[in-house]
Amino acid sequence: MASRIRVGIAGTGSYLPERAVPNSYFEEFLDTSNEWIVQRTGIRERRFAADDQATSDLSLEAARRALEAAGIQPSDLDLIVLGTLTPDYLLPSTACLVQDRLGAKNAGAFDCNAACTGFLTALHTGEAFVAAGRARRVLVIGAETLSRFVDYTDRSSAIIFGDAAGAAVLMPHEDCGQGEVLKTHLGADGSGYDFIHMPGGGSRKPPTPESLAAGDHFIKMRGREVFRFAVEHMSEMIQLMLEGEDPEELTLIVPHQVNRRIIDSALDRLEMTDEKVAINIQDYGNTSAATVPVAFDEAARAGRLEKGKLVVLVAFGAGLTWGATLIRW
Ligand SMILES: CC(C)(COP(=O)(O)OP(=O)(O)OC[C@H]1O[C@@H](n2cnc3c(N)ncnc32)[C@H](O)[C@@H]1OP(=O)(O)O)[C@@H](O)C(=O)NCCC(=O)NCCS
Repeated sequence: MASRIRVGIAGTGSYLPERAVPNSYFEEFLDTSNEWIVQRTGIRERRFAADDQATSDLSLEAARRALEAAGIQPSDLDLIVLGTLTPDYLLPSTACLVQDRLGAKNAGAFDCNAACTGFLTALHTGEAFVAAGRARRVLVIGAETLSRFVDYTDRSSAIIFGDAAGAAVLMPHEDCGQGEVLKTHLGADGSGYDFIHMPGGGSRKPPTPESLAAGDHFIKMRGREVFRFAVEHMSEMIQLMLEGEDPEELTLIVPHQVNRRIIDSALDRLEMTDEKVAINIQDYGNTSAATVPVAFDEAARAGRLEKGKLVVLVAFGAGLTWGATLIRW
């Protein structure tokens, strides 16, 4: 068997739609308040895509920024893997729309749906292609337009979600000299499929006037159960990534931004403070597959990643799914 190629992250990019939606927006039509939302979730505002923007539009902007940061052209790409639960269409994949508009004429393209673990699933897939020598330049994206799938009559879920996209370019470490992917882990437990799900619109319950009227194509969430699952898996994944590593080497944890209290509870379990944690949930809410790549890109651009030091990415979500990545920047 050929030896494994070391894989690096050559560049990152992100895009947030312009429209900022403060908590007060929900006070107008839901029995909720800014105080409740801030206290129970840490969210102050989120971004909503413009009417003419869908997931591929957000992805395209993030992708262009990641390619620029990596210093490569769209035609250099061999593969595009896009994690989303809110594709432009059920068919074809959003990755193909991005491939076309980017002009990535030499790239294969497909979507993966692992909900909030979507970016890490795309990253680990791309990493495996490069490591095996099957591709040399891979664009991985996590992007969502959740505002289109939120039930605005459900106060516990409507206030949580936002729209965004984040991307990264992978290549052999010898070509970019940074961001080596050291460890990856993905897990799933489909017995919890209905903790967070959209019951309508798929092959089990195709859309009908009745299913649309019942709101079956909106996100349904068992918030308290998700909360428990999230705290447990976030702390376990961080522990797994740091096993055998010197804690002094850790420079940043980039967690899925699901609820500020979930992040704090996981840190408590690990007896860690938030000093080395990237947190932007106050500004963007939960953007599912986009939270990790957006926070990662913001941290990179803010100079929070120290050369040679360790970074942990960690996410979990519907499926149920979970995943983590250890990177030496
Ligand atoms: C949804 C979530 C914010 C609810 O917070 P919580 O502290 O767990 O609140 P609970 O569900 O225990 O509800 C407590 C009360 O607040 C109420 N409540 C829920 N949302 C509210 C809102 N926006 N405003 C005011 N009250 C609200 C509930 O109705 C409940 O009232 P009750 O006691 O009269 O029944 C929290 O569980 C969460 O973030 N879960 C993770 C969900 C998630 O992000 N999933 C996405 C995929 S990873």
